[in-house]
Amino acid sequence: MNTNRLSENITAALNAQMTKEAHASQTYLSYAAWADREGFGGIANFLFKHAQEERNHMMKILEYILKRGGQVEVTAIPAPPENPSSLNNCFEKIFEHEVENTKGVYKVVKMSSDEEDWATWNFMQWFVKEQIEEETLVMNLLDKIKIAGGEKISSDILYSFDRDMEKISGDVTAARDVTTINP
Ligand code: FEO
Repeated sequence: MNTNRLSENITAALNAQMTKEAHASQTYLSYAAWADREGFGGIANFLFKHAQEERNHMMKILEYILKRGGQVEVTAIPAPPENPSSLNNCFEKIFEHEVENTKGVYKVVKMSSDEEDWATWNFMQWFVKEQIEEETLVMNLLDKIKIAGGEKISSDILYSFDRDMEKISGDVTAARDVTTINP
């Protein structure tokens, strides 16, 4: 008896999205290490925490595939992109990654709607909401950097921005209800 409740296409799309989340996690990890080396401790902390969040997203999809009786495929994760050239560039790159990730989420949503797989459609709504939050968060940070001078941001503003990021890091964790143990 076949107990798999996911179609072949949906399984492939979910597995692809799982890898995208893993890639996002590696990217945040890589940028966090870059930020730390540049002396931005608060920003590094924010990015390290976000790397963990992306891993939680990956786990959330993995668990869903298993719950629906589907086949999980853990594949190689593409290498993160090159290090950012500046703080402004770092958040611009992050925004682009998030938009790309949103596209992946929408792909699965559309596919599940086309196939009338309402369980997957419903599951993916969490990710739709999450992407709005993440895009908004990065947009707001980019606005702040822009107001502070963008590429020409002064070192004293950079210092206070970095300290503010410590606080945002805390907010991000509190705003999420997922953990690695319970994604
Ligand atoms: Fe899991 Fe930043 O999207």
